[in-house]
Amino acid sequence: MLSAKSAEVVEATLPVVGAAIGDITAHFYDRLFAAHPELLRDLFNRGNQANGAQRQALAGSIAAFASALIAHPDQRPDAMLARIAHKHVSVGITNDQYRIVHEHLFAAIVEVLGEAVTPEVAAAWDEVYWLLANALVAIEDRLRAEAAAGGDPADLWRPYTVVARYQETDGVTTFLVRPADGGPAPASRPGQYVSVRTRLADGARQIRQYSLSGSADGALRFTVKREPGGEVSAHLHDHLHTGDTVELAPPLGDIALADGDGPVLLASAGIGNTPMTAMLDHLAASGSLRTVVSVHGDRDQLTHAFRADLAQLTAKLPNATAHVFYERPLGDWPAERTGLVDLSTVDVPAGTTAYLCGPLPFLRAVREQLLTAGVPAADIHYEVFGPDLWLA
Ligand SMILES: Cc1cc2nc3c(=O)[nH]c(=O)nc-3n(C[C@H](O)[C@H](O)[C@H](O)COP(=O)(O)OP(=O)(O)OC[C@H]3O[C@@H](n4cnc5c(N)ncnc54)[C@H](O)[C@@H]3O)c2cc1C
Ligand code: HEM
Repeated sequence: MLSAKSAEVVEATLPVVGAAIGDITAHFYDRLFAAHPELLRDLFNRGNQANGAQRQALAGSIAAFASALIAHPDQRPDAMLARIAHKHVSVGITNDQYRIVHEHLFAAIVEVLGEAVTPEVAAAWDEVYWLLANALVAIEDRLRAEAAAGGDPADLWRPYTVVARYQETDGVTTFLVRPADGGPAPASRPGQYVSVRTRLADGARQIRQYSLSGSADGALRFTVKREPGGEVSAHLHDHLHTGDTVELAPPLGDIALADGDGPVLLASAGIGNTPMTAMLDHLAASGSLRTVVSVHGDRDQLTHAFRADLAQLTAKLPNATAHVFYERPLGDWPAERTGLVDLSTVDVPAGTTAYLCGPLPFLRAVREQLLTAGVPAADIHYEVFGPDLWLA
């Protein structure tokens, strides 16, 4: 797909661009938000901008895409693009914004690399950008049409009414929402997330993703942990009550429980058990006979959201087991289940498909343990509650 001439130039300049990509993305975002302050206020997650996570993710994905193109010039790495495309559609980016990003990204490249950016180098990287952008646009157009389900793909946001809210633990609250127009809730697959858009006190309209923790009876359920210093999670905890309206994008996300009969392992830490609870709920509701191994790590019994749900859903499934690890357990708790999640004490059946969700150190450790237990890398899927820095 990448022309032979560009492939040669990109390969030769990848080390230079790669080494400078942190600077390039910093300049890029500064330029972008100076020219379009509304994008930082109303589209980008300003928490991720402040802590630098999104900047690293964009840089990492461009470098990864360029490397993939050089290694396999005729293949489009769609699996890598799916996560980005789902996120883009969920937050509502538009195809014309790719030109805006292009303008500021290339101005930033020239700003940082100066005369090293000859017309030949600029043309080669331009080709990489548009291959990436056009691939994303194609996937995003398809996803938007599917998510619109006959409605307007140009505006996927819909108002929902909060029909109930429950406190799961001290800092974790579940919201049950239904479409405000009385229509049915959109279809979802267990493991997917919704974007929630809220107007904050300073007038900014910030967007965050929340995994569905279940869906029932025409309602969607999502569960929010109050993040220390977090803007939207605190806003939802403090201001979103039963009867209130909240804007949601339809369920999206490329990590979802695949149909099948094979064994499933669901591993989570902390609030990472929201998508796992949706998966377990779905398996129990459909009377699944699959072998299901749930593994969860938390600080203690009181911080463990969905503790009772885990026990009840596991009991409903004839071939399910649950293994819970607490770092600082309260009361009488078996020593071998104290500490971080440790799969060496868990039987991982042959043919297992694993779904993981939790902080990056947890994901790294569990993935390693699963590989050691013989689970092929292709059968290990993970969700992260922030920009995917594994790409970087
Ligand atoms: C696919 C996906 C699914 C998710 N599912 C869930 C879920 O089911 N449940 C759930 O609770 N969460 C989930 N999340 C996380 C959620 O989207 C939010 O990221 C989370 O609620 C925090 O948002 P916030 O606005 O409260 O925090 P933010 O304001 O975005 O802050 C995030 C962090 O950055 C820090 N920060 C803010 N400003 C600065 C600064 N100036 N300098 C340095 N650090 C700063 C904050 O202290 C905080 O620790 C999910 C995320 C994704 C991507
Ligand atoms: C080829 C061009 C682009 C690339 C390579 C790219 C890459 C990425 C990546 C890697 C993520 C993080 C995905 C994740 O792990 O969750 C992301 C998210 C995002 N992108 Fe893009 N993107 C591109 C174009 C755009 C454009 C044109 C816009 C619109 C202005 C945009 C807006 C966003 C937003 C708002 C998010 C979510 C960020 C957050 O909430 O922190 N991107 N993009």
